[in-house]
Amino acid sequence: MGEIQVIALGGSLLRPDSEHDRNDWIDNILSILTQGVEKGMKFVLIIGGGAPAREYISIAQRFVSSAHRLDTIGIAATRLNATLLQQIFLSHGLNVSSSIPIVISELEHALKDCDIVVMGGTQPGQTTDTVAVEAACFIQARHCLIATNVSHVFTKDPRHHSDAQPISSLRLYELLELSGEALEPGASTVVDPVAIKKAIDGQMKLLVVDGRDTMRIQAAITGLEFEGTVVQP
Ligand code: UTP
Repeated sequence: MGEIQVIALGGSLLRPDSEHDRNDWIDNILSILTQGVEKGMKFVLIIGGGAPAREYISIAQRFVSSAHRLDTIGIAATRLNATLLQQIFLSHGLNVSSSIPIVISELEHALKDCDIVVMGGTQPGQTTDTVAVEAACFIQARHCLIATNVSHVFTKDPRHHSDAQPISSLRLYELLELSGEALEPGASTVVDPVAIKKAIDGQMKLLVVDGRDTMRIQAAITGLEFEGTVVQP
């Protein structure tokens, strides 16, 4: 079997402001997958919840206090986004798994017959970054690509600190120090701390790229130099 690429696609990537950008992004992902499959690659894509997750969690928050229940709503949104891409890829003729796994172990069977498996969240208390790291560890991938909507891991949150500096390389334990220990349902850091802990346990290298620029995804999966952050075990 050729190399299996595990890629977490942040949900915000599916919803750029303009429809034109959205169409271009999906077209570019389709061509990355098509070219990768032609070269013998397989793909596990884990799709984030993005805007629907945030919107639905915020509707529920007025009535639901349990984090477990709010996470369950978030997981449903990730699976909605996963279904969107799964159906687009199938329509394009790609050999995509018809089922969206709800547990990581289903990947083994799905990858036997299919070139591409698309999935979302699996269980409360984490985000899809964690699912991606678990998937990468499960299939013993060389690395796990986290495609998000910032260019790098930064020294501080760049949305709130103008002096935040991009980091091109660091270690997993350093990333955990930067991210803090836990997230609220619907909250976000570049990489979910639960995912970082799983990566530490599984000694999994993370590649963090700005997935809005699909050339960076392409470069990272083909082993070329890319703009982004390499997080070494
Ligand atoms: P995301 O993985 O989309 O969170 O899950 P995110 O880090 O905010 O990613 P973006 O914005 O898409 O880039 C959305 C929410 O779904 C629940 C959590 O509440 C999370 O905040 N979730 C997701 C889970 O509880 N478990 C999962 O396995 C996945």
